[in-house]
Amino acid sequence: MRRTARGVLLRNWTGASTVPSHGLYPHQWSWDSAFIAIGLRHLSVLRAQRELETLFTAQWEDGRVPHIVFNPAVPLGAYFPSPDFWRSSSAGAAAGAPAATETSGIVQPPVHALAAWLVHRADPETSRRRGFLRRLYPRLAAWHRYLTDRRDLGGGGLVAAVHPWEPGMDNSPCWDRPLARIEPAAPDTFRRADLDHGAAEDRPTDLDYGRYVRLATEYRDARYRDAEAPHSFAVEDPGINALLIASEHALASIAAEAGPPAAADGHRERAARLTAALLERLWDAEAGQFLCRDLRSAGSGLVPERSAAGLLPLIVPGLPDDVVTALLRTATGRHFGLGSADVRLVPSYDLCGEAFNAKRYWRGPAWFNVNWLLERGLRQYGREARADALRTAILSAADSSSLAEYVDPHTGRGRGARDFSWTAALALDLLT
Ligand code: DGY
Repeated sequence: MRRTARGVLLRNWTGASTVPSHGLYPHQWSWDSAFIAIGLRHLSVLRAQRELETLFTAQWEDGRVPHIVFNPAVPLGAYFPSPDFWRSSSAGAAAGAPAATETSGIVQPPVHALAAWLVHRADPETSRRRGFLRRLYPRLAAWHRYLTDRRDLGGGGLVAAVHPWEPGMDNSPCWDRPLARIEPAAPDTFRRADLDHGAAEDRPTDLDYGRYVRLATEYRDARYRDAEAPHSFAVEDPGINALLIASEHALASIAAEAGPPAAADGHRERAARLTAALLERLWDAEAGQFLCRDLRSAGSGLVPERSAAGLLPLIVPGLPDDVVTALLRTATGRHFGLGSADVRLVPSYDLCGEAFNAKRYWRGPAWFNVNWLLERGLRQYGREARADALRTAILSAADSSSLAEYVDPHTGRGRGARDFSWTAALALDLLT
């Protein structure tokens, strides 16, 4: 298993970063790279550092870290939306997109400071010698500032996603309602490349894609300026915000080690403010989990759908005991089935939900990054036996599915791409 996982990471390395998978995702993806670095640190600490450094060379001057950094050697038709759709270096110039590298203009969850801290800890001596954290710290701080300052669209102290690709859970049923208001782009105005590599039943639908294209076009046409963009999709997601808080704590450790020492307190305070806002705005005691908030809807805006994103705050330190207890009850209950005999891994979406589909991307399948984060959260809150069992289940599903992108939560059967980089990386991390 260790050999197989290492082999995947070696084959998917392109010289300065790692592709998630050669066919379906032939460029560098932001949150993928963070998870990949966490595994790569066991294989080559220098490569793990390089993975993150390469991503951050594409950071925009406004602090955003784009969700894709395009490899110019890959033909345009290999992936959609390609650089000629995003036009970052021209349309993104006002927001400070790099001139020499093509990127997308949206973002993904901020797992990077957490990853940088874990990479540092794998070999602090090499990290210090290379000034890894010293060089990365100001970039990580600017990235978090972009999210907290420009993306607090609800004014309540949380980060809002402006595209379903930003929380990383592209076709989650949580987006069905907010997306229903979006007029899809005409099907003949774009050509999907993902279906050349993945089975249609495992992927988002054409209607989803029409809406993804419409929203990205609107943002691009506003030259990616958050103050001017219509942002007709604006959702506060517990996953993004929980990862930001975990990363903000990591940033405090990074500042103490390699930044201005006084900055550590500021990061801890920001983490505390974000945690209070997360509890106030997204916790639903009746549901026993966190929900998403649709900022463009009338009414309270809480979306009555259970996504695994609503369990991810388990990685946030210092949650009140009653919230942790309720989250564990929900995770182990009939909606997510953690630890039950007929559920291999925690699904991305409610097993009892009307929209549940065991095959289709983020509408049910179990993903390895989500389960890795939950394993970490269980350990943080002292649930060692549950964490051990989940670790064993993750490794077994990763092995039997040929390191699949995602699996059927009941059978563990692989779906989507195989030899998927973050599956290999996170398996390697759990093995080490
Ligand atoms: C895709 O292309 O499927 C990604 O999830 C969007 O970044």
